[in-house]
Amino acid sequence: MTARQLRLGTILHGASGNMSAWRHPAAQANASINFDYAKHIARKAEAGKLDFLFVADGLFINEKSIPHFLNRFEPLTLLSALAGVTEHLGLVGTVSTSYSEPFTVARQFASLDHLSGGRAGWNVVTSPLEGSAKNFSRQQHPEHALRYRIADEYLQVVKGLWDSWESDAFVRNKESGQFFDAAKLHTLNHHGDFFQVQGPLNIERTPQGRPIVFQAGASEDGKKLAARHADAIFTHQPTREEAQAFYKDVKKQLVANGREPQDLHIFQGVGVIVGDDAEDVERQYQTTAALVSIKDALNYLGRFFDHHDFSQYPLDEPFPDIGDIGQNSFRSTTDEIKRKAQAHGHSLRQAALEAATPRPLFFGTPEEVADGLQLWFETEATDGFIIQGGTPDTFERFVDRVIPLLQARGLTRSEYPGTTLRASFGLKDPVNQFTQQ
Ligand SMILES: Cc1cc2nc3c(=O)[nH]c(=O)nc-3n(C[C@H](O)[C@H](O)[C@H](O)COP(=O)(O)O)c2cc1C
Repeated sequence: MTARQLRLGTILHGASGNMSAWRHPAAQANASINFDYAKHIARKAEAGKLDFLFVADGLFINEKSIPHFLNRFEPLTLLSALAGVTEHLGLVGTVSTSYSEPFTVARQFASLDHLSGGRAGWNVVTSPLEGSAKNFSRQQHPEHALRYRIADEYLQVVKGLWDSWESDAFVRNKESGQFFDAAKLHTLNHHGDFFQVQGPLNIERTPQGRPIVFQAGASEDGKKLAARHADAIFTHQPTREEAQAFYKDVKKQLVANGREPQDLHIFQGVGVIVGDDAEDVERQYQTTAALVSIKDALNYLGRFFDHHDFSQYPLDEPFPDIGDIGQNSFRSTTDEIKRKAQAHGHSLRQAALEAATPRPLFFGTPEEVADGLQLWFETEATDGFIIQGGTPDTFERFVDRVIPLLQARGLTRSEYPGTTLRASFGLKDPVNQFTQQ
């Protein structure tokens, strides 16, 4: 094994592939609401000794949403069920800090950590879609900077609640009648700008000390939040050079926050297609891309801009000037879409198809895919990858044909080092803020 180990997760993303992948001959058309499918992918990931399975989420849909967003499991409920049918795989679920309460969420992830024997991870998001407010009795969706201020305080509260009990606080001495040691119980008493939370949390310290915290959001505010609080980042950087710059910046910010570079793992979410040769790979890509109509692609593009209606613009003229639309939504993603369209002189049609049916970053024979991943890893473009199959049958092929190569090269593990996600990640135990131990 090399000292620095390549980390891998996979994401449950409907039938896997683009938004229309459910139509693919190999697809499970109801994948997003099919527990047997989720179980199968989780077990396959565990067979490949992957670090974790990742479940994204959203809080607003309309008729233009991606098909599998219309009908899908709530992440924590799904992951709790998967905890019972897996043993080593980390279980990472998305919950928004803009539309939930810290006490509830701290409790839910603590419960998942106990249920799974220390495999829980929380992907912290701030919710990009304005419509979410309408589902939560709110007049207004908080704007981007405010969402991140709320998230920062939210994470302070949740971490404080997770430290409510020292690990040996529950003595349960039947003879003496002592159930817990009061000296090991800590009450948070948080009074902040957004939250008033007394505590303590009504569940004991978790097997991992506290669940693993992911952050997804790549704007300056997003990176700042991650550098302060997160154990991992989920991001998409389009080129190796941009990924290297992102990597360097985040690691620098970690150090500025008094943390060490290896305290946070950066994960690039990447599409992959594995084939026998170039012709086979191209055929697989074309078969999948052809499933997406231009109408679907415009809807897909529009969602990043808070469901902006792109069908009002001419398709074959340059990408329209839409001003600030999207700034309060998926900001880092919309900035990148606009930058790319301008740099390549893309028409709206090209930009929409590019967004909805991107060519995977890593495609080719198993050796070529392994080479690409290795290069990004060894040149510090990333610490690991979240593998998103480019077609519905890619992930199986990835585990069967690429993983053995990565293992043979000493890049990934052949056995799990322990039973927790923290052990898989090689992260140190968290210090309890009330005892500093
Ligand atoms: C790679 C990536 C994955 C994301 N996943 C989710 C998700 O599953 N659910 C969600 O509500 N928001 C998700 N977001 C949105 C962010 O949490 C955030 O609300 C939005 O992108 C604005 O943040 P940013 O400008 O810092 O990227 C994701 C963002 C990125 C970049």
